[in-house]
Amino acid sequence: MDQRAFIRQLPKVELHMHIEGSLEPEMMFQLAKRNQIPLSFNTPQEVKAAYQFTDLQSFLDIYYQGANVLVHEQDFYDLTWAYLCRCQQDNVVHTEIFFDPQTHTERGISFDTVINGISRALEDGKEKIGISSRIIMCFLRHLDQKSAFLTLEQAMAHKDKIAAVGLDSSEVGHPPEKFVQVFAKAREEGFLTVAHAGEEGPVDNIYNSIELLQVSRIDHGVRCSDDSHLVELLAQSRMPLTVCPLSNVKLKVFDKMESHNVVDLLRQNLCVTLNSDDPAYFGGYMTDNFLAVAQSHSLTEKELVQFTKNAIEASFTSDNEKYHMRCILDEFFSRSIG
Ligand code: HPA
Ligand code: ZN
Repeated sequence: MDQRAFIRQLPKVELHMHIEGSLEPEMMFQLAKRNQIPLSFNTPQEVKAAYQFTDLQSFLDIYYQGANVLVHEQDFYDLTWAYLCRCQQDNVVHTEIFFDPQTHTERGISFDTVINGISRALEDGKEKIGISSRIIMCFLRHLDQKSAFLTLEQAMAHKDKIAAVGLDSSEVGHPPEKFVQVFAKAREEGFLTVAHAGEEGPVDNIYNSIELLQVSRIDHGVRCSDDSHLVELLAQSRMPLTVCPLSNVKLKVFDKMESHNVVDLLRQNLCVTLNSDDPAYFGGYMTDNFLAVAQSHSLTEKELVQFTKNAIEASFTSDNEKYHMRCILDEFFSRSIG
């Protein structure tokens, strides 16, 4: 089997994907029409042409506009279902997806509408196409902690559907320290925690997410290479980093894929995983991310498998589900080399 076929067929686990970031331009137009929402573009092609980003903020400005077409529960269902169908094509067997409730509640869409649409699609994903999942609710870090507390309150009625809380949006200027109390409250209520840190922001944000927010994973975290002590700490503790290669190049965290540090980090025994972040905006889903890394770095099949092993280790599933995923992976590996 050549390496591209190996990558396509490799069982994958996604741990860093914003469901609003899976809104493809074609669906954006469909939903805009269905909900009579005006768009500032005339065709899906025009939308795609506008996806030329200079940094995280230039992306976020467009991404929040795109989310305006999501209004009804069925819209959130359709969005999530389309993503799950892409997962199936890419042999993603398990996915843990983020959603940003404040992006929707701030424009008058109810929390229940959002979570019910997403979770109904995820239930169907499990039942109809065998993809297991978890939901992570992110606080927008450019908003204040009071708004995050309000969001946490709204989530309480849906505790059974939400595994963890996270932190996303503009990292620079909005450090983890800003959200210490709301994360403490979330942990008290039984939620696991994660945070975007060290994407554009400094290594201090990684240290403080671990120490002050007590996260189980760091989202991105690629700036850890600025501090050799931190790299050692991450390796020793096996603190997972959910890395998003295509995103990092699109948002100019790295100038080109050849400069990306994820393979280095893998070889230093960090628990790094590959993920798509906002696949409709950054040029690809899981397989595309694996292919992009493999094309620019020489990787063995064993190393490719290690990304999935790491993701299983880092996932928020039960031991039983982890065992099941490891069996699928072992079975694939012995079949592919045999
Ligand atoms: N970083 C921060 N916030 C985000 C991202 C990201 O990569 N994607 C969607 N929201
Ligand atoms: Zn992200």
